[in-house]
Amino acid sequence: MYGIVNQAIQGLVVENYGQEKWEEILQLSGIQVTHFISNESYEDEITFELVAAASEILQLNQEDVLFAFGKYWILNTGHQKYGELMKAGGKDFLEFMKNLPNFHGRIMLIYPKLCPPEFLVEVENEKKIILHYYSARNGLTHFVFGLIHGIAAMFQQTIEMQLLRSEQGATWHDTFLIETID
Ligand code: HEM
Repeated sequence: MYGIVNQAIQGLVVENYGQEKWEEILQLSGIQVTHFISNESYEDEITFELVAAASEILQLNQEDVLFAFGKYWILNTGHQKYGELMKAGGKDFLEFMKNLPNFHGRIMLIYPKLCPPEFLVEVENEKKIILHYYSARNGLTHFVFGLIHGIAAMFQQTIEMQLLRSEQGATWHDTFLIETID
């Protein structure tokens, strides 16, 4: 994945746990890269090794690391580095979700070698959405949980989200139910 993803894991760790913990995570992961370049592509393996090492050092399970990472991606990386793009995504939670399938299309202009996730959104009614997530990668379900909670927080929207199904074939396919709470 592009270096900006690994930079975000670094940002999440350094801001919440300090530089020393980050150094420990890098050391445990055995990754030789110490400085990630945002628009350079790195092996996906590096990102997964960072998550695994963060889980060990911070004594959190990997699902919690991925969830925190997803929220951080929206509320910090997205907000600070791509504020205009995030604003263009929609004026409220529901509109943002409806536009989600097109979101990475614009990002491909910045990161042409992107291998983006795919989303399909079924709006059952104004308060209930079925979200389909498809990926060439395995194991990012809890990243998606964090991302959607980050989007909800961005709009001060309380939500409930549950995983209905996970199909793990050549393409990973998760189906989520998301309900907004007044
Ligand atoms: C301006 C904001 C955003 C930027 C710049 C961005 C950019 C990226 C980049 C660079 C990757 C790594 C993929 C690669 O290098 O091949 C990625 C992956 C991903 N993005 Fe975004 N993204 C943004 C917003 C979002 C939003 C709003 C969601 C909503 C759910 C999202 C969901 C994901 C997921 C799930 C992945 C993991 C890849 C996978 O599942 O295969 N992103 N994004």
